[in-house]
Amino acid sequence: VTFFNGKKKLLNKHFLVTAGPTHEKIDPVRFIGNYSSGKMGFALAEELAEQGAKVTLVSGPVSLKCYHPNIKRVDVVSAEEMKQAALDVFSEVDGAVMCAAVADYRPKYPADQKIKRTAADMTIELEANDDIAACLGKLKTENQLLVGFALETQDEKSNALDKMKRKNLDFIVLNSLQDKGAGFGVDTNKITILTKDNKAVDFQLKMKTEVARDIVAQITASL
Ligand code: CTP
Ligand code: CA
Repeated sequence: VTFFNGKKKLLNKHFLVTAGPTHEKIDPVRFIGNYSSGKMGFALAEELAEQGAKVTLVSGPVSLKCYHPNIKRVDVVSAEEMKQAALDVFSEVDGAVMCAAVADYRPKYPADQKIKRTAADMTIELEANDDIAACLGKLKTENQLLVGFALETQDEKSNALDKMKRKNLDFIVLNSLQDKGAGFGVDTNKITILTKDNKAVDFQLKMKTEVARDIVAQITASL
């Protein structure tokens, strides 16, 4: 009997993983955020580490813990901080997996003091955050792998393919929101992996830890 699976496949590799939401400051007590729990990104970091890789896990605000000795965790709050942390390490990594649900906009004029309630309606002016995946896509060398995620509610595959091209990704993981057990907060996910050579592989609904294995298998095959 030969145990092919007993061998760690990512020894001496270093990966960047982004995970969780970002919080964009409105005032000292309020922010704009989203429902990302960070579970998928943390599961990916664990699985990469389990395969022998060193992992730099850049995480937005989440209530998760990670214990794997191969994982170096960098906690950030805003998209701007996440971009800086990602850029700080990108030149050293063999690949980056962009799993974070990065806020697309931030308040243009965050207030230094708590904004007081008045009887009137209010408007918060927003400005665009940089696209971290696209930034890395521009810097990427031939030896680096860049993986993105896409969460779509319509025209799923064509939107995901557009994102893969626009951000210069090697493959993109499409999260289906059609399925009840997939997406934010839950422990399960249903994905389709779309590759730049136009292949699409649909996976069953499964635990995020198992989904992480499927994604890491694709990473290993693509290196
Ligand atoms: N992403 C990123 N930085 C951002 C926005 C997105 O790194 N400022 C990454 C995500 O981590 C994910 C991929 O880009 O890997 C796609 O994110 P998504 O929000 O689906 O794409 P957007 O380009 O922001 O498009 P939209 O939200 O309009 O669908
Ligand atoms: Ca977005």
